[in-house]
Amino acid sequence: MKSYQIAIIEGDGIGKEVVPESIKVLEAIAAQCGFAFKFDNYDYSCEHYIKHGKMMPDDGLDRLRDSDSIFLGAAGYPGVPDHISLWGLLIPIRRTFQQYVNLRPVRLLEGISSPLKNPGKVDFYIVRENNEGEYSNAGGKIYEGTENEVVFQESIFTKKGVDRVMKFAFELANTRRKKITSATKSNGIVHTMPFWDQRFQEIGKSYPQVEKDQFHIDILAAHFVQNPHWFDVVVASNLFGDILSDLGPAVVGGMGIAAGANINPERVYPSMFEPVHGSAPDIAGQNIANPIACFWTAKMMLDHLGEIEAANLLMEAIENNIKEGNVRTRDLGGKASTQEVTIDIINKILKE
Ligand code: NAD
Ligand code: IPM
Ligand code: MN
Repeated sequence: MKSYQIAIIEGDGIGKEVVPESIKVLEAIAAQCGFAFKFDNYDYSCEHYIKHGKMMPDDGLDRLRDSDSIFLGAAGYPGVPDHISLWGLLIPIRRTFQQYVNLRPVRLLEGISSPLKNPGKVDFYIVRENNEGEYSNAGGKIYEGTENEVVFQESIFTKKGVDRVMKFAFELANTRRKKITSATKSNGIVHTMPFWDQRFQEIGKSYPQVEKDQFHIDILAAHFVQNPHWFDVVVASNLFGDILSDLGPAVVGGMGIAAGANINPERVYPSMFEPVHGSAPDIAGQNIANPIACFWTAKMMLDHLGEIEAANLLMEAIENNIKEGNVRTRDLGGKASTQEVTIDIINKILKE
């Protein structure tokens, strides 16, 4: 029987609640579709940091290298500064394993009420550059603690880095409704963003059949709210993509349903599957987190592993359950617990 080795990092907060539920769902799906998973648990987290002074052991990344995929809940928790926890775990995984595409779907599912009165049909992907750009540790401080203190931080955009994420986005648009939107800010940011636009034009020449559009990030954010039905594939730099990938889900149900994948398209390294949300300290430990974001993320992992039938089965179970009103966690206006949602979804899978 085919078996996949998955590195599990529950991480912090609600990561510890939604990941174990996702494993139950994945096991049910595998049994139904005739393959198997071997899950290896890694305790990399803020708790690990508090015990050992680091988010993961020195060979922490090497231990993940041979897995077929990495599945992560969330990292970061009060008590450890966020720039320490995230740069000690999440960001090194994304970079070491060249997961330069952060793919995040935004789709309004039947049965979920959008905060918008007339959202129309919303179904698009955000393709976020995931390895460089505004997220950089190139920078520093001088005259610290004095009146003359100076802090600076560089944005780094490489031709290779921009071109490869653009290509991924164009290819994706080509398989869909053939429309791509680029997030820019070349009116205010004079070096990196005109370069981003230039590469968008250049890479776009190979895709004459794809309709191209670009907006400055400020008005693009407004269009996400006023015209979310316009979009098919939105390509954005690391920071802009980060912001858009909370805003997009907010329009279709919120962080509780926002799925994501950190992909190494060449498959030289394992890809990492991780919901968009964080550790949600405000609701952690209460069994009320919505696990759908994590289940949808598991669906993206199944797609990546080539288990398309299983991926479709899982997505159907999620969609049917929502349609029938079973997934009513607090964030969606109901009372269902994290574990009750899991039971509903597994029952659905077993019946399908
Ligand atoms: P967050 O996504 O954790 O929470 C934002 C809000 O959304 C909270 O009110 C929370 O209760 C709600 N929410 C999030 N997921 C939910 C779910 N599944 N069901 C119901 N409600 C949900 O963002 P934050 O508060 O900015 O960050 C908290 C911590 O997580 C910080 O340390 C941050 O750095 C970290 N973080 C990590 C990741 C990651 O590991 N990928 C992503 C974002 C934030
Ligand atoms: C995300 C998160 C991370 C990011 C943080 C926690 C570093 O917000 O995955 O969207 O900005 O990439
Ligand atoms: Mn984010």
